[in-house]
Amino acid sequence: QVILDTLDAKSTIEDSRLLTIPGQSQPAASHEDQITILGALNSLLSRDMIVYESHEVSSHALTAEGAQIVQEGSHEARVWAALPMKGEGSPVTPVELKKLVGDETAKVGQGRAFKNGWIGKEGDGLVKLATTIQDVTRTDLQEVASTGTLKAGEKTLADLRKRKLIVQRKGQWFTVRKGPNFSTSTAKPETDLTVDMLTSGAWKTSTFKKYNFDAEGAPTNGGALHPLLKVREEIRNIFLEMGFAEMPTSSFVESGFWCFDALFVPQQHPARDLQDTFYLSDPQKAFPPEPEYYKRVSTVHEHGGFGSTGYRAPWSDEESSKLLLRTHTTASSAHMLYKLAARCRGEKVEGDAGEFAHGASTTGSEKKDEKDDGFRPAKLFSIDRVFRNETMDATHLAEFHQVEGVVADRNLTLADLIGFMRVFFSKMGIEQVRFKPAYNPYTEPSLEIFAFHSMLNRWVEVGNSGMFRPEMLEPMGFPKDVRVHGWGLSLERPTMIRYGINNIRTLVGHKVSIEGIENSPAVMF
Ligand code: PHE
Repeated sequence: QVILDTLDAKSTIEDSRLLTIPGQSQPAASHEDQITILGALNSLLSRDMIVYESHEVSSHALTAEGAQIVQEGSHEARVWAALPMKGEGSPVTPVELKKLVGDETAKVGQGRAFKNGWIGKEGDGLVKLATTIQDVTRTDLQEVASTGTLKAGEKTLADLRKRKLIVQRKGQWFTVRKGPNFSTSTAKPETDLTVDMLTSGAWKTSTFKKYNFDAEGAPTNGGALHPLLKVREEIRNIFLEMGFAEMPTSSFVESGFWCFDALFVPQQHPARDLQDTFYLSDPQKAFPPEPEYYKRVSTVHEHGGFGSTGYRAPWSDEESSKLLLRTHTTASSAHMLYKLAARCRGEKVEGDAGEFAHGASTTGSEKKDEKDDGFRPAKLFSIDRVFRNETMDATHLAEFHQVEGVVADRNLTLADLIGFMRVFFSKMGIEQVRFKPAYNPYTEPSLEIFAFHSMLNRWVEVGNSGMFRPEMLEPMGFPKDVRVHGWGLSLERPTMIRYGINNIRTLVGHKVSIEGIENSPAVMF
């Protein structure tokens, strides 16, 4: 308030040492006073009420001994005060003096008091010679305490320093001017209009802080979905919107039987190679599948059947029972299709396939009548992890996610598959698709799916598809007129394309930056 009032009257404070702090009689010349003033200046500066410049000076402060002298007088003055006036009492012996003023004061004070001519000897004792004294040490120290310096000059200051009564230190003083928000009121401006202010009427006299429209908002601290999860969610929604049910895909470990044999993949197929597939060393063998189904599958491989000549190669139980990390989610589809065909095999169905089968008419667990062959159509999908023993590079990892859709109904055609995929990919924002004949051991015909990539300006492969072979479906027990088509794609590829990521390691693995994920547009949109 003193600072503001002084500025109001004089517009500038040239030297802050000339201010008077409330409750003090002297101007605020000491180091401590300037520290107090600096605190006030900084708080006013933060509200733009003032501006100030600081100036450095060398100043002095009292030591503990110096401060004691200011309180009680110098050693020599205390010695002088303890003695009787010459001729007015019995002289005090040096031993008695020590008792009166203490060892230290007696020792230091005697010499200086003698030198000043304040005291003298009488017999063995000491007496006062001067009736009054000027305690210069004390007044000098008082001056240093309040001004930080001495008018008497450097010689006396040096002497006091030598006597360890004062120490030199750096001091500051300030020149102060009005700031852009200068006002004589130190009341902090209000930041908000409150109910209390409205009811009491205080709002009328309050000053309000201006809105800062340039202030940055506080960063929000929400969780962040990884781009892969984000795209997975999008694709899952497309499937759900198209009436698909999600398959359970929690078993990463499958047997050679479910990953390959059930799909009519020949036991000598290169995909089964150690180079392509991770096998488990412990346990080595899977539990055997249901024996009759197993027999039908091994027979169609070895000798053919269902209109097929088979592979006519010896069947290996060992190959079939090997445990491995699934190389495609089609292994899960095989499990589900086998379950879906249970009713066709005349088995009682509880839950599972029935739950995942599409359409209201599929719920009954028993065949309805003699003409009912038990088949119920189904649209199934899954999005989960698969594993391949690949050489890792910028676009390949040993594990990735597969998106897979499977549709089972009577008399489906290749046109149904193509039509389905056009709709599915267009829902993913991919309008231009092309199909190319391909080979898959478990589908015939098979189609590779290509999409036009406008950024790369070329067609890129986005998936693989086909009509599952009768050699796979009929051993499961499906009636002959049931067709199943399916397609698969990786989750990583469309995610990388979508978010302009060109190295898969920035998307998956230990190099993924959490901050990068949080700031990625995938999280925001
Ligand atoms: N399993 C195939 C793959 O891994 C994808 C696919 C699924 C193909 C279903 C046809 C039918 O590429």
